[in-house]
Amino acid sequence: MGYDLNKVPAQVTPHKTYQDYLDEDRHEPAPSLRDLGDAPPRLQDIDKARYLDRGFYERERKIFDRVWQVACREEHIPEVGDFHVYEICERSYLLVRLGVDEIKAYPNACLHRGRKLALESGHVPRFRCPFHGFTWELDGRLSHVPCEWDFPQIKPSEFGLPEVKVDTFAGWVFINPDPDAMPLEQYLDPIWQHYAPYAWEQSYLGVHVAKVLKGNWKIVQEAFMEAMHSLETHPQILGSVDDFGCQYDVWNGKLHVNRMMAVFAAPSTYVVDQVTEQEVLDEWLGRKSSDADHIVLEPGQTARAAVADLKRGQTEASLGRPLSTLSDAELVDGWYYVVFPNFMLWGGFGPNMWYRFRPHKDRHEETLMEVGYIMRHPEDQPKPEPPAMIMLDLETPWSSVEALAGLGFVLDQDTTNMAAVHDGLKASFKPGITLAAYQESRIAHFHHTLDRYMNNIE
Ligand code: FES
Ligand SMILES: [Fe+2]
Repeated sequence: MGYDLNKVPAQVTPHKTYQDYLDEDRHEPAPSLRDLGDAPPRLQDIDKARYLDRGFYERERKIFDRVWQVACREEHIPEVGDFHVYEICERSYLLVRLGVDEIKAYPNACLHRGRKLALESGHVPRFRCPFHGFTWELDGRLSHVPCEWDFPQIKPSEFGLPEVKVDTFAGWVFINPDPDAMPLEQYLDPIWQHYAPYAWEQSYLGVHVAKVLKGNWKIVQEAFMEAMHSLETHPQILGSVDDFGCQYDVWNGKLHVNRMMAVFAAPSTYVVDQVTEQEVLDEWLGRKSSDADHIVLEPGQTARAAVADLKRGQTEASLGRPLSTLSDAELVDGWYYVVFPNFMLWGGFGPNMWYRFRPHKDRHEETLMEVGYIMRHPEDQPKPEPPAMIMLDLETPWSSVEALAGLGFVLDQDTTNMAAVHDGLKASFKPGITLAAYQESRIAHFHHTLDRYMNNIE
């Protein structure tokens, strides 16, 4: 429905907070939802050269040699010998399964004259370079040298594929090329603890869509770090998403993770006087009162409670166990956790949305953005095969993908901003961007961490 934005109050502070919603919950939420962040980092304008300058980008991309980063899902390589090609900026890696619990990663480059060992993901008994035939076993040991007599300098024991650190979390395979990297569990603090209750061992990749976007990868990513833009960019969702009851958390000393918790199935403070609970529910479910599966609220029942009941049933069915005491917040809301530098994964039982942002083909003015859903399967059933990634070019809208349903339209609204921000920054005589202290605190946190890594590298 359309909302009259002329009736929007100029000042809505103090408004209902996320903690107020938790106080009203019918069940006690998990302690992680009460774990409030610390004061946001000190505010400074962000220099626009960080988005526009190729020289900055060429220094910045070196951080990917130093950070834990998502390479693929475990179900992308279910069988021994399955391998996945993961590319970031100018780097390329092979992730290969050696056993049920063993995955190794190598730079995707032959040690002879450097040809990529594979151009795309697949299955092999061993890695054989298509150029001259140098061959390595899956565990990286050198197993064949063509014209061996002509390589007197090669000692096979010293000519194995160099290994890159690998670990997994919630079904995601992470790598870190830095041999001195901290353990992934420490890197992901506090996400590792916050996500513990949500049965990730039963998770699988349900939807996977990628799109090329105009705009620096940080411009694109930062559009998903705050919900303040909903009022202007996504006015159609104000009746069923309280983006201004959203909580933003950054924690002192925790460099790599921050959080935003958005209230779903409740109206924004801005339009709360313009909607009934029934309209909130209808908007959230995308259903009209004439639809056969239209849900009519009981007297006194809130849309949020009705959505929670619906999600409780769906989640119990997908997990195969009861969740009768789980809080409504854990069933309904969107908790957007950022994992530095380029990954976001929603908390709770899902379906969990996730996003990844990479410079497209090592171009600092284009982004390859991926979005998808993580689903749950019953414990006694095998993981479904991952879907093939749907790839959209610059011109093709997100809304052309049926699997994204209404989200596609919202992402198209976001996409319109990306290129316009990139070009607007070029047009601007102002040296930097200016951030909101609270609602854009996660962007400040991201740049704070980026600086820490870049200063260590240089
Ligand atoms: S470059 Fe790989 S075998 Fe020669
Ligand atoms: Fe948006």
